Amino acid sequence: MNLSFLTRVATAGAAFFFLSAGTPHAQDAETDPYEKPYIVEDGKVDQGTYNGFRRYHSSCHVCHGPDGLGGSFAPALVESVKRLDYDQFAEIIANGKQEAGASGQRVMPSFGTDQNVMLYVADIYGYLKARADGKIDRGRPERIKK
Ligand code: HEC
Repeated sequence: MNLSFLTRVATAGAAFFFLSAGTPHAQDAETDPYEKPYIVEDGKVDQGTYNGFRRYHSSCHVCHGPDGLGGSFAPALVESVKRLDYDQFAEIIANGKQEAGASGQRVMPSFGTDQNVMLYVADIYGYLKARADGKIDRGRPERIKK
């Protein structure tokens, strides 16, 4: 199943409810979660990557730490995306993940019904990829002016 395609189709119908300003689909047309997940020019990011930063810090950072760096509870996603491709990443977010470790269980919740996350998985991935590739620093990135 192509989750990126589903994300786009869903976005077309529902994004107006979730984005008060800006384009319905935050991700720029020139980006693609497989070939080109983000655009960084002079340290500034495209709209989708910026949106990924915002979505990450509203839904993921409580467990995964600020700036994708990990916390005591959940792994550093800046490292994870070096290993996970977009489909694997999207699958974990849709379905969650549970690892039974010696010291108990750590659970990644499922976001499959959370449209504030599911519509923007490609943006979140792009943001984390840009961080993983060392293209943007910690903190809120600046946007490329259009
Ligand atoms: C309630 C805490 C919590 C929240 C919120 C959360 N996660 Fe997680 N996540 C975890 C835990 C714990 C793991 C490790 C689970 C495991 O290894 O079985 C995990 C694992 C993951 C993994 C797999 C990492 C790897 O290296 O295999 C991805 C990808 C991921 N989370 C993405 C996200 C994204 C994106 C968000 C925000 C939309 C998010 N998570 C929100 C707790 C959370």
